[in-house]
Amino acid sequence: MQIARSVGEMRDARRQVQGSIGFVPTMGYLHAGHRSLIERAREECRTVVVSIFVNPLQFGPEEDYGRYPRDVPRDLALCEQAGVDVVFVPEVQDIYPMGAGTVLEVRGLQDRWEGASRLGHFQGVATVVAKLLSVVQPTRAYFGEKDYQQLQIVRRLAADLLLDLEIVGCPTIREPDGLAVSSRNVYLSAEARGRAMVLFRALTAAQDEVDAGEHSAAAVRATMRKTIESVQGVDLDYAEVVDPTTLEPLDTIDREARAIVAAGVDDVRLIDNTRLTPVGA
Ligand code: PAJ
Repeated sequence: MQIARSVGEMRDARRQVQGSIGFVPTMGYLHAGHRSLIERAREECRTVVVSIFVNPLQFGPEEDYGRYPRDVPRDLALCEQAGVDVVFVPEVQDIYPMGAGTVLEVRGLQDRWEGASRLGHFQGVATVVAKLLSVVQPTRAYFGEKDYQQLQIVRRLAADLLLDLEIVGCPTIREPDGLAVSSRNVYLSAEARGRAMVLFRALTAAQDEVDAGEHSAAAVRATMRKTIESVQGVDLDYAEVVDPTTLEPLDTIDREARAIVAAGVDDVRLIDNTRLTPVGA
């Protein structure tokens, strides 16, 4: 396994490989969710590249950039074991040599849900993803459905910029009790972790209601809200039923939809989502 510690080293490594390249961008502190993306890339591509870069541009001033969990030696061991060919571990200076002079916006999609609560967040994501794609030049890039809005934004960015690659969305990996695996789960105390499970319970309740024939998005939304608000110490941000591509709220669930939720548990922001398929669709 090769380790590229600068943009120059990554470009050199890129020039030496032929055939399909699968790319998994991450902020490190790798877990089972990241591993599932790496495994998918390993199955589908000749060369697998993983990037580890905690991107300052996507964190707000009050957010956890400084204390975001990091463990590069452990990440490298996990990559090696998963059969990764090249790990790209750039420094901030490499990715933003002259600061953040040029930034990307995915208009519309970036402004709602996570974007409304985390101003500038998706500008930071879109900018770094475009930079990483430009350096790695993959055939396919793998993103998790866990960050569903991010996935849709990256799809839109790739289409709008006419990038010659495929964006592959991969299912959310969960703990046995349903909690979506996340680097930020390490912030949760054992007791807070118990409360955090309510997000998954709200999504399950939504799917159960749709399975039982409910077509009203308002009814499903109310069920999710009621479920989350029933737990003290969980601070609901949004619980919505949206179009799976535009993320606009829906009135009627008469085709595939997405249920999306966000809540704060203590000071930890958690998000989750699931596909809703109406009966007969
Ligand atoms: P990070 O949070 O490290 O996530 C890297 C990738 O792993 C993302 O595509 C994310 O959706 C996916 N992922 C995280 N948890 C997952 C889970 N439980 N199941 C499946 N996939 C999961 O997302 C980012 O980093 C950054 O915003 C990045 C795209 C790297 C840009 O900086």
